[in-house]
Amino acid sequence: DTSGVWGGRFSEATDAFVQRFTASVAFDRRLAQEDIAGSRAHATMLRDRGVLTTEDHDRIAAGLDQVAAEIAAGDFPWSERLEDVHMNIEARLTELVGPAGKRLHTGRSRNDQVATDIRLWLREAIDRIAAELTRLQRGTIGLARAHADTIMPGFTHLQTAQPVTFGHHLLAWNEMLERDYGRLRDCRARLNQCPLGAAALAGTTFPLDREQTAAALGFDAPCENSLDAVSDRDFAIEFCAFAALLMTHLSRMAEELVLWTSAQFDFVRLPDRFCTGSSIMPQKKNPDVPELVRGKTGRANGNLVALLTLMKSQPLAYNKDNQEDKEPLFDSADTALDALRAFADMVPAIEANAAAMRDAALRGFATATDLADYLVRRGLPFRDAHEVVGKAVAHGLETGKDLAEMDLETLRSFSSSIDDDVFAVLTLEGSVAAREHIGGTAPAQVRAAAGRALARVEGR
Ligand code: ARG
Repeated sequence: DTSGVWGGRFSEATDAFVQRFTASVAFDRRLAQEDIAGSRAHATMLRDRGVLTTEDHDRIAAGLDQVAAEIAAGDFPWSERLEDVHMNIEARLTELVGPAGKRLHTGRSRNDQVATDIRLWLREAIDRIAAELTRLQRGTIGLARAHADTIMPGFTHLQTAQPVTFGHHLLAWNEMLERDYGRLRDCRARLNQCPLGAAALAGTTFPLDREQTAAALGFDAPCENSLDAVSDRDFAIEFCAFAALLMTHLSRMAEELVLWTSAQFDFVRLPDRFCTGSSIMPQKKNPDVPELVRGKTGRANGNLVALLTLMKSQPLAYNKDNQEDKEPLFDSADTALDALRAFADMVPAIEANAAAMRDAALRGFATATDLADYLVRRGLPFRDAHEVVGKAVAHGLETGKDLAEMDLETLRSFSSSIDDDVFAVLTLEGSVAAREHIGGTAPAQVRAAAGRALARVEGR
């Protein structure tokens, strides 16, 4: 047990409950491959600096290979009594190779070791998440291209506002995802410094080559300050902030999909493979995947708050509190990856019901602003035009007619500035085509925007 590791100054064994309470191996064993990679780099550097003999180094390297193989095969003897992943691996290594195994920890502490392991683990997770995010963006942009001309109502306050194209709406989703991608890259760039060599907190008396271990593990540089190296968890917080914001964005998309797949909207259909049925209601097809993504946003937000609270007021340098960093971090990474995978698979398979979107856009006076803009072009001040159109809408509500369904005479009763060219601006196609500028919903603009969006993604 751990008394073999630090038992020297202790006069009794660790309380059995305390052992369980302080152990982290049940969850930090996910860091095993990173822990071994860190140990390999550390051992090689110790050899190159003459701190370890070549024989000891070679025994350690061969032992670590075997440990890695045992872990991969699922027959590594994990023990809670050895507290965490680091001591489990070191103990097994020593069992396998003898005294050389006990020399591995020279010039190292679990404090710089765990800080290194988490960074390595998170870097790998970030790269997988970045790939899924990119796949989702490609799918979203592809669907947007296919629907550059598909007209739907745009909403504010969830009330019909103005017509937009479905492609334009999808490109709005992509903008959120593009910013998420940028945040993920920023997080990766800032985390990519190597704590090894900081040892417990103050550095080490051995002639370590920190540049060498940093480079061997793919870090850009060693961490600048040993106290900071072992006590910084900003990178985990930044990642959880990224994940919370990503999930928030996915929850907004999810919410729209849930609304749009309802019988009342019927704007889109999701393939059956992304939905489930009801055990009692035979007609049901429930959008479980978007609902669950929406729901999982709660845990992503919770994990961010957990880590911020974990770090708040912690004195330098390492504190055992930090053992609590892993579960929220792992959970945010798992949640983000799963949610992205679900969406990357599902979004390209969304089927738009263009007829239902169009019907919906024809209700709710979506082109009222177009009529006001028309009157402004005819010389009316915008506020007066707003008033005129408001009266026309009130009349439409009474008579059950949309603006485009009123005859010219009726329309002219609200303003004599209206002529028969008004009907061109009152159509859905006329309305969207008129938003002809960067960031506008005109189909030509949507196609151009999709091209730029795809170029950004492909340029990564
Ligand atoms: N299991 C510990 C953690 O996750 C490793 C570092 C322990 N260091 C220490 N001095 N107790 O943070």
